[in-house]
Amino acid sequence: MARGARSPEDITPAGDAESRALRPSNSLFEDDMNTFKPLVFSGVQPTGNLHLGNYLGAIRKFVALQENNDCIYCVVDLHAITAQLVHDDLRGQIRSIAAAFIASGIDPKKHIVFNQSAVPQHAELAWVFNCVARIGWMNRMTQFKDKAGKDRENASLGLLAYPSLMAADILVYRATHVPVGDDQKQHLELARDIAQKFNIDFQDKIRLTDTGVDMVVGEEPIHGYFPLVEPLIDGPAPRVMSLRDGTKKMSKSDPSDLSRINLMDDQDEILKKIRKAKTDPEGLPSDVEGLKGRPEADNLVGIYAALADKTKEQVIAEFGGQQFSVFKPALADLAVHVLAPITTEMRRLMDDTTHIDAILRDGGERARARAEKVMGEVFDIVGFLR
Ligand code: TRP
Repeated sequence: MARGARSPEDITPAGDAESRALRPSNSLFEDDMNTFKPLVFSGVQPTGNLHLGNYLGAIRKFVALQENNDCIYCVVDLHAITAQLVHDDLRGQIRSIAAAFIASGIDPKKHIVFNQSAVPQHAELAWVFNCVARIGWMNRMTQFKDKAGKDRENASLGLLAYPSLMAADILVYRATHVPVGDDQKQHLELARDIAQKFNIDFQDKIRLTDTGVDMVVGEEPIHGYFPLVEPLIDGPAPRVMSLRDGTKKMSKSDPSDLSRINLMDDQDEILKKIRKAKTDPEGLPSDVEGLKGRPEADNLVGIYAALADKTKEQVIAEFGGQQFSVFKPALADLAVHVLAPITTEMRRLMDDTTHIDAILRDGGERARARAEKVMGEVFDIVGFLR
């Protein structure tokens, strides 16, 4: 499988670069994206409650990127039925993700906020991609292996094909940049592989239909239809770990609610969870190196850094050598300070769903208009009649 020459680390913008425009002049665009108009796309599944990991790892990046870029943020409800078919309140979950987007500061007028099932072209393009992607590619996905567990034969076909739908989500808008947590890196590489194979397999048709653009992939100039997406994975806490076990990701599905801070937690809950967060007997080290091999300490410092928009070095410069009895209350205060306004606004939005529903409807219409155009071109390239 051919890939762009650069690893995601190379393209990850440093520091405040995210809020800069992803213009062709930006180093992000020096090679393989230079002919696609920059467009940011990301998705969040409406399963379980959003927690601090989702906020720091994803939503906050979405907010930063909207300053200078065209962005589409999607509640991926079609993905929600891949691991579990029947949900108690899927609609409520969809609304609560949308409410979290809005409460966190995403502007649904300047950008697009919608739910995936409102735009049928996602599923339509996913079907084409199911025929582009190889079963072997899907079988190698670590998320599939984790979620399917031992009994793979009994996993849904949708769970196996999940990354193909994810590629379609992005590429049905020919989006170029995707802010995600680092657990999604492999899925984005697969999206690149799908785009690449589509571009190569259909290269003659792409020329004939005059729908493609010139791009350079690695060293090689090609004329393709789909961009090779760039993951945007960075920040001091790209991976927020469980408060009970610093080696496990903070997760919606952890049976212990003490393991995570939910976006809807009230102040008392946040204070309690941080007070009870697991730590080792030592205090904070005097330099960042000292966090190695101490996953719980590292996690709490990472969370503080992310919430304060600082580096871990800066946090250690401030708290190095101190006991957790000093650091934890400071962290709790900070968490409450950052999260309380979001929680309050989310609750307000969830109290009267007409507003959220109207936002999603409007976003869905605008998204569909764009997706229809791309899907029409895909019909032409593949050779379906329309
Ligand atoms: N798989 C992503 C996750 O679990 C959610 C997702 C679906 C997504 N489609 C996407 C993320 C497209 C980015 C772009 O976090």
